[in-house]
This record gives sequence, C-alpha cells and structure tokens, in this order.
Amino acid sequence: MEETRFNTRATNLEVPGTRKFSNQVKKYDDGVDLTLGQSGFDTPEYIREAMIEAINQNKLRYTHNRGLIELREAISQYNRKRFNVTYDAETEIIVTNGGSEAIDSVLRTILEDGDEVIIPCPTYLAYEPITKLQGAKTVLVDTTKTNFVLTKEALADAITPKTKAIIFNYPTNPTGMIPSLEQMKELVDVLKETDIFILTDEIYSDNVYDGEFHSFMEFSEVRNQLFVINGLSKSHAITGGRIGYILAPPLATEHVTKVHLYNSVCVATPSQYGAIAAFTDATGPVILSKMNEAYKERRDFVYKRLKEMGLSVELPKGAFYIFPDISEYNNDSFEFAAELLEAEHLAVVPGKTFSIYGEGHIRLSFACTMEELVDGCKRLERFLSTYRKRS
Ligand SMILES: Cc1ncc(COP(=O)(O)O)c(C=O)c1O
Repeated sequence: MEETRFNTRATNLEVPGTRKFSNQVKKYDDGVDLTLGQSGFDTPEYIREAMIEAINQNKLRYTHNRGLIELREAISQYNRKRFNVTYDAETEIIVTNGGSEAIDSVLRTILEDGDEVIIPCPTYLAYEPITKLQGAKTVLVDTTKTNFVLTKEALADAITPKTKAIIFNYPTNPTGMIPSLEQMKELVDVLKETDIFILTDEIYSDNVYDGEFHSFMEFSEVRNQLFVINGLSKSHAITGGRIGYILAPPLATEHVTKVHLYNSVCVATPSQYGAIAAFTDATGPVILSKMNEAYKERRDFVYKRLKEMGLSVELPKGAFYIFPDISEYNNDSFEFAAELLEAEHLAVVPGKTFSIYGEGHIRLSFACTMEELVDGCKRLERFLSTYRKRS
C-alpha cells in the first residue's frame, strides 16, 4: 500500500496527546492516569435502565435522521427552561453521535477551501484538525495573557474578509475558563455586525462550579449565525453512549441534516431512549448536582496542591480540567510529560495538544477518583522537587 494513495489531509492528522499518554501509562501496574476527559462515576442507573428497556422492547430500528421527536422535544424543553430560548423540535434540532459528530457535521456543512476559522487558544484538540480536513485555515488566537478568555480587541484583529466561522468552547477544555456576561456581550457586539458563523461548544455547560454559566443562545441578535453544540457525554457520565446535539436555525439545520444523515443515518436508538430519560427523569438533577459537588471538591483539592508546589495556575470555573504552567521547569510540554511518565508512572496531557498556545502547560483531569488525585499530586510534587529548574 502506497502512502501517496491516501488523502494528504488525512495522513497529516496526528494522534492527539491525550491518547498517547493514556495508552502508555497502561504498561505500568502502578500507573496513575490523569489524562482522561470522562467522569469516574458510573452512568446514572435511570439512564442505563431506559437503554436496557429499549433493547428489550426491540427498539433497534433506525429513527428519524434528526433523532426521535420525543428526544428533540426534551432537548428543546431543557434549553427553554435553562436559557429561556425556544428551539423548534421539528426544524432546529439534530441529535448527533456525541459532540464530536456535531462539530464535524457543522464544520463540513459550512467550510470551503481557503475559509478561515478563528479559534481562541488553548482549545479543545478536535477543532483544528477537522477545520484543516475541510481545506480551511485556522486562525489561532492567543488567550494566555487574558485569563484564557478571548477579548473583543483580539477578536476584531483576527477577523478578515475570509473569516467564515469562530469556535467558542466555554467552559473551556483544557482551562475550565468561562467569560463574564459582560465579556460575552462585547464579543457578540463585534460578531453581530458580521455574517461569521458562531459555533459554541457548550458540552461542559452542566459542569460549572463557580458563578453562573451563560450561553451565547441568550443573545438573540446572533441567533441567525449560531450553531450550539452540546451533549450528555460529560454531564451525565455517558461518553460511550454517543449522545450529542446541534441547535441551529431551520436553514442551517436542513443542510447539516444532509451531512449528518450520510455519515451517521441516526444515533443508536437505545442511546436515544437513554437520553430521553436523562432529560426527563425527576431524579436526574439531584444525581447531577451530587457529581458536580464531588468534582468541585476535587478541583479545590488539586488547585490547592498545585499552588503548594509553587506552580502558576488558574482556578477552573467549570469542565474537568486544570492547566498549570510548567514552563519554569521545561517549556517543552511533551518532553516534560514523557519524563514525568517515566519517572513517576503518572500520565498527564502535554499542553501543546491544545494548540501551540498551550505549550509550557500540562492538563490534569480531576474527573478521576479522589484517591487517584491524591496519589497523582504526590507523584507530581516528588517529580518537581527533583527537577532542575531552568535558569
Ligand atoms: C470541548 C469538547 N467538545 C466535544 C467533545 C467530544 O464529546 P463527545 O464525547 O460527546 O463526542 C469533548 C471531549 O472531550 C470536549 O472536551
């Protein structure tokens, strides 16, 4: 098989840093893995029961391409209650195979060769490769000097006549940052004067520990430019269920549906029944808030420990991750993570995985158990104490 026979945009893709280190740590019996972006909790029982019941009732046929109408109605209700917005279940919602397929289907629907996509960085690792697969160009904007939040000035500087879209992800993976309502308004004021598509990946919107989360959906002046991406993977500890969704205006939904139906047909039917339970079961919110309490406790613990180690680090407001600066020790985050793995059998994600502007940092997940966090922090502390600081 000749290398040249493949699509070069595909062959140029790289395996993300998250996977590399989590695969390698498995070879150590005493390894600790703080790389994973998924909950250490079991998927809530009421969701599992609903999926089992669907299978037992032989609900294993294709559904509507956009998903079961009951599920789309439940999604519409949830967003109405939470953000006071109305998205029509028939014409403005698509159920997708996780947030991942939602991102891919939207970008494939809107991007053409040479288009530019603005991405505030450091950022979730999938946006850049998917944009490039479409032949579009990424315009990465450094937010490290502005508390990991995009400012209106930086946004205005990044816009060119070729800008087709911008991708927001708040709370952000890997930093956990969330802009204030005022900061969001400033960004909206710039964007509403343009026809730039706004993708807002809000997959961690139910994992917020301090303050309030506001969605770009709350700004009706950009509704006609907006694609909302969300899903249950993180909030409901069901990454393997593959349940995501897109909210978008009717014309956009019509076009994205065509891309989605050719790549997926629909989401696995038992997963869709599980998702209906997730949105409608009365015990759901209680279970979710218990999980969030535990994440908050772990976040506070790991933040305190990193500070004790003398690392510069921001307190994440949401998501599952904390992103300390390790540049005082080594500015090459891949080298640092490899040394840490070898010396202490501790796996973390090198910051460069989240774009060049993540360099000099590492990402630790606090969605694991408290025992793993305590042990992981001990190992990191020991490693740093023997590491010769760069002059
Ligand atoms: C910001 C962000 N968006 C999307 C995804 C993908 O989610 P899913 O598992 O639902 O495809 C992730 C997973 O880590 C993520 O961090």
